[in-house]
Amino acid sequence: MTTRTSSSAVPAPPAAIVIFGASGDLASRKLLPALHALAVEGLLDRSACLIGVGRSDLGDGGWRETMAKAVADHQLEGDPAAWDAVVERSHWVTGDYTAPETYERLAQLLRDADEGDDPGGCSGNRLFYLSVPPTLFTDIVDCLHRAGLNTPGKGGEFARIVIEKPFGTDLESARALDAALHAHLDESQIFRIDHYLGKETVQNVLALRFANAIFEPLWNRQFIDSVQITVAEKEGVGHRAGFYEGAGALRDIIQNHALQVVALTAMEPPVTMAADPIRDEKVKVLRAIDHLDVDEVGNEVVRGQYTAGEIDGESVPGYRQEPDVDPESRTETFVALRLVIDNWRWAGVPFYIRTGKRLPKRATEVVFRAKAAPHLPFSSTQVRNLGPNLLILRIQPDEGITLEFGAKVPGTTFDIKTVDMEMTWREEFGATPPNSYERLLHDALVGDATLFIRSDEVDAAWQVVQPILDAWAEDSHPPAPYPAGTWGPREADLLLERDGRTWHNP
Ligand code: BG6
Repeated sequence: MTTRTSSSAVPAPPAAIVIFGASGDLASRKLLPALHALAVEGLLDRSACLIGVGRSDLGDGGWRETMAKAVADHQLEGDPAAWDAVVERSHWVTGDYTAPETYERLAQLLRDADEGDDPGGCSGNRLFYLSVPPTLFTDIVDCLHRAGLNTPGKGGEFARIVIEKPFGTDLESARALDAALHAHLDESQIFRIDHYLGKETVQNVLALRFANAIFEPLWNRQFIDSVQITVAEKEGVGHRAGFYEGAGALRDIIQNHALQVVALTAMEPPVTMAADPIRDEKVKVLRAIDHLDVDEVGNEVVRGQYTAGEIDGESVPGYRQEPDVDPESRTETFVALRLVIDNWRWAGVPFYIRTGKRLPKRATEVVFRAKAAPHLPFSSTQVRNLGPNLLILRIQPDEGITLEFGAKVPGTTFDIKTVDMEMTWREEFGATPPNSYERLLHDALVGDATLFIRSDEVDAAWQVVQPILDAWAEDSHPPAPYPAGTWGPREADLLLERDGRTWHNP
């Protein structure tokens, strides 16, 4: 039985939740379990209904079976009957995403749901979740508009769209997509999801920084030498080559998850924790990131691609040997880069960011390296085991915070070595962090956009990434190879070594 952290979350208002691409992997692995948890915990309204839309001919029966199967192993404290009731009220729409008939059937089901048996039914509120390839986003929004579904139904208060990444494939396409969405929707209706923001430990960055007076005075160029952000994955590309070949690690992780973590760690204190004050501060940081000139990219950014190697003692193929990958592919599965944030707080403090697939372990962390003590009154032998002071925010797995500092080794000599002080999320709160989709779906239903990405943030993040894409488009060199199971190509180490630093490997 999973115990959840205590929550003062309010139950979501009644709504029909419509998932486009509902027979896909994301729905089964993340969305349905998240909605199940919300229902069982009493955070989904009792009259909520779930409409799946997809090309496969599942029918209501098949969809209800999919819903039941996705949560079969999900043991939660709460009221299991609440989910059964949602399942019973759920429907399936088979259809092409661009065909008007699909939306006519959907509109009819939504009207029925609004006037359903439960008091008030779904009350005209709609949440559309676009779990489909990005090429369909614009078409679906156009069709929703034509069917009059971009506004709430009778008596309703909202019609919102949750949109998955990738939001565009470069700055130009992201702007075009944004314009297409804004043609039919107000910004307040658009919830751009980045599941990293739903992670408890990512949100904990805000708690650590702004609930404590001891960290904030140190959180700047006077005390911080450098910041590292690592998003490491052990898995390879798996069966996602169809998407990944055209994306690569820069678009898949750096443009969104990694830059969001940068924004939260580097932003100024918001006036309140409401959506716009937080997003205003985040976008200021993203805009302050120095845009590389195309000819600087070779020096500041490393791209790599995994070759065959070993993970946990097992041989694994190289990226180019993975199913559906071009044997000559130049898609990067690893990126390391140095960013500079040109503002008062961070001028001169490098932010080193890296991500990669087939690295030795799955781990996401932010490491703050403090400046060295101005003077060490010890002999070199006394401090030979002393490293820099590090504050490590472990985002996953093994969520927690570590502070590394020097302490005297017991004994008659005065030797100093680095020791750790640890806070572990699991030990402290005795609970598993919930699936981030649970938090984000609930927020979308209650209309809290704090953990969703605003249009200007997406634009600012693409502006950081675009010169790198431009430089790579001109560059005929393939990504640097690295064997699976290592921390990326040697060039990534050199990026720090030339600055007199090294990566902190989780
Ligand atoms: C997704 C990427 O957004 O994030 C995947 O498309 C990646 O390639 C995943 O594996 C990582 O998420 P998490 O939560 O496992 O760190």
